[in-house]
Amino acid sequence: TVGKTASLLGMRAFLVGGIVRDLLLGQKQKDLDFVVEGDALLLVKELGKNLPTLKLISHERFKTASIILKNGQKVDFATSRVEFYQYPAALPEVEASTIKEDLYRRDFTINSMALEITFGHIGELYDPFGGFADLQEGIIRVLHNLSFIEDPTRILRALRFLGRFNFKLEDNTESLLLDAVSSGLLELTSPGRILQEIKLFFAEKDIFKILKLLNHYGVYTEVFPKAHYEEEFLSRYFTFSFEFSRYLKEIKIPWLFGVIGIYAKNLTEISKFRKKYPLTREEEETLIKVTKGIGEALKLLPSPRDIKGHEIYETLKNLPPEGFWALYLLLDRYRAKVRFRQYLEELRFIKPKITGEDLKALGLKPGPLFREILNKIKALKIDGVLKEQK
Ligand code: CTP
Repeated sequence: TVGKTASLLGMRAFLVGGIVRDLLLGQKQKDLDFVVEGDALLLVKELGKNLPTLKLISHERFKTASIILKNGQKVDFATSRVEFYQYPAALPEVEASTIKEDLYRRDFTINSMALEITFGHIGELYDPFGGFADLQEGIIRVLHNLSFIEDPTRILRALRFLGRFNFKLEDNTESLLLDAVSSGLLELTSPGRILQEIKLFFAEKDIFKILKLLNHYGVYTEVFPKAHYEEEFLSRYFTFSFEFSRYLKEIKIPWLFGVIGIYAKNLTEISKFRKKYPLTREEEETLIKVTKGIGEALKLLPSPRDIKGHEIYETLKNLPPEGFWALYLLLDRYRAKVRFRQYLEELRFIKPKITGEDLKALGLKPGPLFREILNKIKALKIDGVLKEQK
C-alpha cells in the first residue's frame, strides 16, 4: 500500500535502515522505516484516507510521520533529508534531499541500504556504500571520518552491533572509534541519549559480550561511572541459573536488573549512576531500595546466630525483585543462601488469617497501634508461634 500510494503521488519510496539489514540477514525486525523522496507528511495523509482506522502522528519540523498499526506496531516515514549538526552531539537540523544523501548521514554501511518499493522497482536493493558486502564479511564500517563526531552514541551502537552479530570493526573505523573515545566525545553527549543506549544493551541476548566490548574499548566506566569491571562476576550474573529464573519473572524494570549486576560488587557507587542519568521516579526508587535492601540483608543473613523467620522477613520485605539475584550471588555462605531462599519461597507468602477487619470488629480503630498489632501477629505466624486452624 505504501509503495502504491507513493507511486501514485509520483514519489520514490524505500524501506531503509535496520529492517533492510535484518531482511538480508534473514532475521526478524520489529520496526518498519520508510524514506520517501518527496513529502512524507503528504504520503501519510494520503495513506490515512485509504486506511481511516489507523492512528497518524506527524512532525512538521522534522518532516516525519508515523502510523500506529492495530497491533501497536509503529511504522515510521521520513522525508529523505540531510541533517546538519550544528555542533557535535546536537540534535540535527533537517533539509530535503535525495535518498543517497539520506543514507549517507547514517551510522554504518550495513545500516545504510535501501529497498525500493516504488512501482517498477519493487525489491531493488539500493546500496551505494557497500553495505551488502560488509554484511557478508561481518564488518562494521562508518561511512565517513566524522561519523562518531556527529553522533557519539554511535560508539555505543557500534559495540552493540559487534556483540549482537559477532562482527568485527573495520580498521579505520576502529581507530576513529578509539580517537572518539579518547577525545571524550561521550562526555559531551546528553546523558538521556546514553541512557537510551544502555537500555538497548540490556535488551540484547548476549549482554555479557557487549560489556566485554565496552571494557575493551575503554568506555565501560564512562557509561557506568565508578563501576568495577569484574569479568568473572559479570559472567555469573548474566548467565543466572535456570532454577532461579522463575523469580526474575517478578522483575518490573528488566534493564535495571542489569545495572544492579554491574554495580553489585560495590553497590553504593550506584548512586553515581542514579545521579548521572535522567531516571524516572520509579527507577530511582527501585535503585535506592535495592541498595538499601541488599546492604541490610548482607548484615543479617550471614550472621552465625539463629535468626528468627520474622527478622528475615522484616529485613527483606522491601527488597525489590530487581535485587534478588545480586543478593543471592553476594551471599557466599551456604547457610545464608538457604535463609534467603526460605524468604523467597515461603516467608514472604505467609499471611495470618486474622486481618484488620477482625481488629475493627473488636472495636480497634486504624492507626499506628493497629498496624503494630497486625505486624506482631504476622511475625508470630512467620515464626510458627501463632498456629491458626485451617
Ligand atoms: N541511525 C544512525 N545513527 C544513529 C541511530 C540510527 O545512523 N545514532 C540510523 C541507522 O541507519 C539505523 C536507523 O537509523 O539503521 C534506525 O535506527 P534504529 O531503529 O535505532 O536502529 P536499527 O538499525 O533498526 O537497530 P535495532 O535492530 O537495534 O533496532
